[in-house]
Amino acid sequence: MQPLAVLGGEPIRNTPYPSWPIFDERDLEAVTDTIKSGRWGGFPYPGPNTAAFARKFAEMQGGGHAVPMMNGTVTMEVALRAAGIGWGDEVIVPAYTFQATAAAPMAAGAIPVIVDITPDTYCIDPLAVEAAITAKTRAVIVVHLASQMTDMDAIMEIANRHNLVVIEDSAHAHGAQWRDSGAGTIGDFGSFSLQSSKILTTGEGGVLLCKDEHMAQRAASIIDCGRAKDPDRKEFTMGVNYRWSEIHAALGLAALERFSEQASQRSAMADYLEESLSEVPGITLLKRDLRHTKRSFYRYVIKIDPDFFHCEHEVFCYALAGEGIPVDTGYPAMNRYDLFQPGLSKLPVPSAFPEYFNFESMTMPVTERASQVESVWMGESIFRSGRQGVDDLVEALKKMADNPDSLARLVQVGQEMLEQDGQIDFERMPGHL
Ligand SMILES: Cc1ncc(COP(=O)(O)O)c(C=O)c1O
Repeated sequence: MQPLAVLGGEPIRNTPYPSWPIFDERDLEAVTDTIKSGRWGGFPYPGPNTAAFARKFAEMQGGGHAVPMMNGTVTMEVALRAAGIGWGDEVIVPAYTFQATAAAPMAAGAIPVIVDITPDTYCIDPLAVEAAITAKTRAVIVVHLASQMTDMDAIMEIANRHNLVVIEDSAHAHGAQWRDSGAGTIGDFGSFSLQSSKILTTGEGGVLLCKDEHMAQRAASIIDCGRAKDPDRKEFTMGVNYRWSEIHAALGLAALERFSEQASQRSAMADYLEESLSEVPGITLLKRDLRHTKRSFYRYVIKIDPDFFHCEHEVFCYALAGEGIPVDTGYPAMNRYDLFQPGLSKLPVPSAFPEYFNFESMTMPVTERASQVESVWMGESIFRSGRQGVDDLVEALKKMADNPDSLARLVQVGQEMLEQDGQIDFERMPGHL
């Protein structure tokens, strides 16, 4: 039995996984041409690159009217504002997501109402959505998390019955499909981030897909300081400058050219990984829902059995990272999240409605188990490194399964550090000593 690398053994993998983002001549040419054109900014909106990107993005995703903008947070704020949702309205969001999903409603003046996820997908639980609906509920933002999709059949059925606006936060789901419909084209709005870690990136950026053309015109108006975008009605809105630049759009056009090949490569390697993972004890895969007809892979999440491995995910990820595998423990639960503390602000929504932000009294059992105990998040680069990259991951997981006593020892050392210093300093763990 090989000792764990963090305890002085040989790591399974010494070669780094490929970095992200990647570029080629097309990006350099597109950016250079844009710079030379003198048309750098986003005004007048949309510029030629932005208009071309919007058309191609909607085509790739399979529907909707695309409105590119600064990032994948303001997309959700703008969607709510375009739909007339604002002050004091309740917007249901999942507890397991990046803070942006809950921060965006507040920026629109609405109140995020946090609900739990399902244990088999880690996406919002439709039953929890239904239970949280009140007379003030106007919208639900679902998140297609990591490489999963929310049960859109259930969400649309609930939304239709209660007349709710549906926003699909598809920051992780470029190219994904549910019953052959693109993520972000099923609800009223699809929100996409193009921030640099995302599988389609322009460095920073976002796209809002709108089912309804008039909503797209309103969204375009809101991000362009309120300028009218509707040729017939000449409707002005209250807006701000959330435009992106033509340089971002140039990068987006180049990224779109590579996207489909990259997506197929990741998908093939994810299938291969899932075949191999059946050989590893102590781990559970998330659900493979057959209605999720095309998967995309921003992150890949598995669950570990803490009793089997004698540790929870933090120590597990630490040991796995030591083997050369890029993993992390994912997001905290929204009600326990350092990056989501509305009470630390003087923002209007938490100031006016403090009763909604009493996080100590909230319990989200499934999210808390996922975020504190069992989830292991793997980077998309594992799927861009051929079969060897996947084989190394599987070998490293098998090594964990062979070494539960060593993992237990790491837990013990961590606990001692916690008692002595009030924190765990992984640099001082065995192997680093
Ligand atoms: C689920 C989710 N929603 C929204 C966002 C926000 O996107 P952006 O960083 O482009 O504002 C992210 C970004 O990490 C995300 O992961």
